[in-house]
Amino acid sequence: AEFDLIIVNGVVVTDTEVGEYDIAVKDEKIAKVVKRGELRGVKATRTIDAEGGYVMPGGVDGHVHLEEPPLFGKGSSADNFETGSRSAACGGTTTMVPFAPQKKTEDTLLDTLALTHAKAKDNCYIDYSFHLLVGNPSPRALSEFKTLREEGITSLKIYMTYEALKLNDGQILDVLLEARKNQITTLIHAENGDLIDWMTAQLEKRHMFAPKFHGPSHPPMAEIEATHRAIRLSEFLDTPILIVHVSTPQATASIKAAQDRGLPIYAETCPQYLFLTAQDLAKPGFEGAKCVCAPPPRASEADCDAIWTGLGDGTFTILSSDHCPFRYDDAATGKKTCITDEFPDGRFKDIPNGIAGVETRLALVLGEERLRLTKFVELTSSNPAKLYGLYPCKGGLVPGLSDADVNIWYPPGKMPEIELRNEMLHHDVDYTAFEGRTLKQWPRYTVLRGRVVWDREGAGLVGEKGYGRFVKREASSLARPRFEGEWDIKEDGSFGFF
Ligand code: URP
Ligand code: ZN
Ligand code: ZN
Repeated sequence: AEFDLIIVNGVVVTDTEVGEYDIAVKDEKIAKVVKRGELRGVKATRTIDAEGGYVMPGGVDGHVHLEEPPLFGKGSSADNFETGSRSAACGGTTTMVPFAPQKKTEDTLLDTLALTHAKAKDNCYIDYSFHLLVGNPSPRALSEFKTLREEGITSLKIYMTYEALKLNDGQILDVLLEARKNQITTLIHAENGDLIDWMTAQLEKRHMFAPKFHGPSHPPMAEIEATHRAIRLSEFLDTPILIVHVSTPQATASIKAAQDRGLPIYAETCPQYLFLTAQDLAKPGFEGAKCVCAPPPRASEADCDAIWTGLGDGTFTILSSDHCPFRYDDAATGKKTCITDEFPDGRFKDIPNGIAGVETRLALVLGEERLRLTKFVELTSSNPAKLYGLYPCKGGLVPGLSDADVNIWYPPGKMPEIELRNEMLHHDVDYTAFEGRTLKQWPRYTVLRGRVVWDREGAGLVGEKGYGRFVKREASSLARPRFEGEWDIKEDGSFGFF
């Protein structure tokens, strides 16, 4: 056969175009994208008839936590590389960028990287890279940025909150300076940790322990202030940053204002800020614990609407899951409910922050039909690939250059609407915060480097553990400094880029 796979009769959607094209795949790559019908008579080992459904580049999820130690409250990650990547594949995501977490007590990043490689190797169903999570920007760790870059790790994440991870402003500047020198993109968790701790103490003083008080313990101001500070620190050193999991209209507005000033400020949001509100946190009993993440779901639908608007108008560069899975009901670590003899109704400050969503990200958001199709692909696949130095290998359908990572969706009217149930999902988590939501779409087939890994009407998961491989990344093709030269201070005390 001339080709390994051909996909015919699809409506092909990329970040720039929607059209009736057929696709041919050879040796794991997109070989041809041609007008519908032009592959008639061509021999291929396998042919998939998309029957008019959307055919898109596979999802790229730039924010996934797997096999991390307890960092965000009590409890360890429920998913490991196997179960997390399995779940991703079944939801149409073909590339993920989980974290390699360096603890505050560790001096080096390279050991963290080696350890994370060992956890992922031979265990993944989809392709992957890592963001280094810098918990301790020691002189040694900073000196290792160059090696990270050479190893294909071109992004890192830092935190302005969480006792176990929080950096002070001086440490943030150290990281930004070194990141700029090495063309590494810095992701920032922008919440003011002191403000959160202060509010937590205020709430506890008033005996407010229930899960719903997680909301006021992480007020909008914690995000607004930290976002502003992160933008100004980035501006000071002209270092591109991505603010992760943005949840408030006010932080969105300040990011947009910075972008309008020409600053290299990028932003991410996640389905939780589109679909969940304080009402979900306030569900009776301990149910609210299922929606505890940081930042928390905000007050009302108006907040969600502002985030949708930011997705549509380009303020947000990417839409990730922030898959950060903990079990709801597990006697060992990771018990979301945190019920003890002393706190029979649970205690919000002990509930590990994070929810699972790597499998539901694409279907939930596409099904809402609130984004243009090209915008959907841009936010969930092409832009994360560009931002994290994976494009056009990932995130595109460029003949000769792109890996044959493809999602084939149901044609209109073909898939009966269903209600999301956790039993449908493939993660190692005993609940989903999105239980009961209506799904109008789900990937019918997902293809990774030319191989079908998900076949919804066939055997479901048909990919293999270990087929997913590490992808070395280039520097970001989106996030670039504005100025030439290196930051320095001259003898006369003037400072800038020379
Ligand atoms: O709720 C969240 N987001 N959990 C912690 C992981 C993170 O991204 O900070
Ligand atoms: Zn975060
Ligand atoms: Zn996260």
